[in-house]
Amino acid sequence: MTTEPVPDSQQTRAATSLLELAEKVSAAALSISQYLCSKSLNEPNFSPLSLGLSKDSEIEDARESLLIASKALTVLATDPLTHLREVFFAYSDSCALQVAVDWKIAHILCTSGTPMHINEIASKAGADKHKLLTAMRLLTNSYIFTEVEPQVFAHNSSSIHLTERSTECLINYCMDITYPASRKYSDSMKLHGSSTKSNETSFNLGLSTKKSFWEWIYENPEFCEKFNECMKPLGASSYTRIRTVFPWSSLGNVLLIDIGGGNGHITYQIAQEAPEMRVMIQDKEQAIVEAKELCPDNLKSRFSFKVQNFFETQPVVADIYFLRMILHFLNDEDCVKVLKCILPAMKPGARIMICESIFPTPEALPNPLHKYVTNQSWNMVTLLNAGERSFDEFEKIFHAADKRFKLKQWGKSGGAPSSEILEATLADDNSKSHET
Ligand SMILES: C[S@@+](CC[C@H](N)C(=O)[O-])C[C@H]1O[C@@H](n2cnc3c(N)ncnc32)[C@H](O)[C@@H]1O
Repeated sequence: MTTEPVPDSQQTRAATSLLELAEKVSAAALSISQYLCSKSLNEPNFSPLSLGLSKDSEIEDARESLLIASKALTVLATDPLTHLREVFFAYSDSCALQVAVDWKIAHILCTSGTPMHINEIASKAGADKHKLLTAMRLLTNSYIFTEVEPQVFAHNSSSIHLTERSTECLINYCMDITYPASRKYSDSMKLHGSSTKSNETSFNLGLSTKKSFWEWIYENPEFCEKFNECMKPLGASSYTRIRTVFPWSSLGNVLLIDIGGGNGHITYQIAQEAPEMRVMIQDKEQAIVEAKELCPDNLKSRFSFKVQNFFETQPVVADIYFLRMILHFLNDEDCVKVLKCILPAMKPGARIMICESIFPTPEALPNPLHKYVTNQSWNMVTLLNAGERSFDEFEKIFHAADKRFKLKQWGKSGGAPSSEILEATLADDNSKSHET
């Protein structure tokens, strides 16, 4: 069975009539359904056992088309003012999720899907029945939990993830940090204007601190632990894309330095694709200790570890300098500093590889697939006056470090979190000067 060609996002957006959009939804759904059938894969459903729609690259375009057209259809079918109000009232969904996490509702409900009356849930949680019921109804209306009969609730495909510690940490961390910080975004614009300092942010106003986000989080181990924990699934959901978005195995016997590599979880994945590659993980001491502990036995002979500040000159000559989720935490000035610290170590043919979510071009929006990167960019401005960057914005930073940099993007914007690759090489490797 073959998949039908589906319209690209531009064409989908150009469709304005309800019928045209509905036809695009129908064509994309048919294409996906035929693919799933041909591969004997299950269709997604709301059961707690559903794994969701397959992320296979063969149906990437159809999935995107389906998401764009169905979202546009939903917005058009909602009256404009109601749509505006719905976007605004999204804050109550976040707060209701906090209720579910704080009162351990996902753990109280049976994970196999057996329903439970609100009286029993409230009693087991030690919560007020009416207030809990109000939060649960808000969530079921957003497809989180299901109310199988009046006041009787069960897990569904999304609520089941609230049993995972990483999801609980994400919700707690966001409600305690990014939520109060976001509330001060507009105030910070008034007070700090166009400051790019990492301690003149909405975070500083929201958390009433003069420290930058990084200084603050390292001094608050409880939040630091939650932050690290909630980052894990973001990495895990990107593993497949990062492993396949670039032909790692073609690199052969090279040395790759994972700058700010954290606990190494990303390069432990990449190394599985590149059997001859050697990797050095560089980070702060705390991260290096964890990275060493987590190194899989079959990779130990190919991995080395070094405590290294990325704001200091890179002492190791390597073939590839890899940075994932580093630059988006930094303002432009600091990004240039980091790149300039790598330059003196770059031998002819060496490259810098940035692994992040590359911000889409403006004409690619709106697109539900880009919701992650637009949210993430908001978070980075909120916390650190940093942000996700488009290809052109990355190019500006690289050229501020050295005009000879040539950039190439691997992977279309809108993939799994921080899974696009930007490959930067120096056009003239013979030049000795790295000054711009
Ligand atoms: C968001 S994590 C990214 C970790 C990993 N690259 C990944 O993709 O999961 C940022 C990392 O940068 C490290 N880091 C922050 N400041 C640093 C510095 N000045 N020098 C070296 N590493 C630093 C942190 O310890 C952390 O591991």
